[in-house]
Amino acid sequence: MVFIGTKEEIKKQAEEVLTKEIGAYIEKCKKDPHPDSLLIAVLHKVQDHFGFLSHDMMDAVGHLMGIPTAKISGVATFYHYFNLVKKGKYVISICLGTACHVKGADKVLGKIEEELGIKIGETTTDGLFTLEEARCLGTCALAPVVKINDDMHPQVTADQIPKILETYFKKEKSLT
Ligand code: FES
Repeated sequence: MVFIGTKEEIKKQAEEVLTKEIGAYIEKCKKDPHPDSLLIAVLHKVQDHFGFLSHDMMDAVGHLMGIPTAKISGVATFYHYFNLVKKGKYVISICLGTACHVKGADKVLGKIEEELGIKIGETTTDGLFTLEEARCLGTCALAPVVKINDDMHPQVTADQIPKILETYFKKEKSLT
């Protein structure tokens, strides 16, 4: 998206991308003696709302805060907790930490990849699942562990994966 027009028109276009609420939050941040130092807080707010940061969103933030988009995208790519691509509705975190690895997490991972046809870091084409790896989910006694959004699945075996995934497919069907 190209932001063009008067200052007011550009502000309106940017707020259309980011929502009025985020626009108002940025206005508040700009009153701070060091608004640039609040850039990360603003990016968090945008990601919390949309789930990721697109180029248009970063561009809109840049226009509203008076910061070059290149600088914003530099910040967004530096910190791993910012997502630059939209994640799936269900984010599967497979723990590949030592305890989970010893208890067969690789086999569980292989089964998830086989069932969904995606690798770590990818999202299914229907936008339903994103597969990520974790290095320890803090529940080593329950290894191997798979987390799907806020649901923890303890002591998972590869054989259980189709059934676990099926519960999320069913959840989706019941919503349509
Ligand atoms: S190593 Fe997997 S939960 Fe700690």
